[in-house]
Amino acid sequence: MAIKFNLNGKPQTVDVPAQMPLLWVLRDTLGMTGTKFGCGMALCGACTVHQNGQAIRSCITPISSVAGKNITTIEGLSPDSTHAVQKAWLELDVPQCGYCQSGQIMAAAALLAKKSRPSDADIDEVMRGNICRCGTYQTIRQAIHRASDILVASNGAPGSKRGVA
Ligand code: FES
Ligand code: FES
Repeated sequence: MAIKFNLNGKPQTVDVPAQMPLLWVLRDTLGMTGTKFGCGMALCGACTVHQNGQAIRSCITPISSVAGKNITTIEGLSPDSTHAVQKAWLELDVPQCGYCQSGQIMAAAALLAKKSRPSDADIDEVMRGNICRCGTYQTIRQAIHRASDILVASNGAPGSKRGVA
């Protein structure tokens, strides 16, 4: 079945079974391996991508359901790894083994797109579905606050704590 959608800003057509999970299409059909397989049951967040700006679990998303939608993966979050979340992640050296991190970054980016100044509680609420076996949770929380600073400063919005971009 031919399914058309937008992937990282470009039109994409794939000819695969309608029920194939988006994660398989990304990794196996399209060779985009930045999005990871963890549990395959919506329990770990390793496979998180954006669908029309919302964080979704690609392991349980049938490809037919993304027809006509905009999908963004870690490869498309920014053209040159300069999204505020990516900058903050590098600055704070968040990853340990790295396996969960593309999912963490995509979840964090979706959170900040909705709420530019999340509280610790907001962060914990959104990020608790993203499991990190290396236990980087505290650094992730710090990095989300840092990314928030970068975003707010670059948007010139009030409430910026630091004058950096
Ligand atoms: S692989 Fe999708 S949530 Fe774990
Ligand atoms: S950095 Fe290793 S699982 Fe998260």
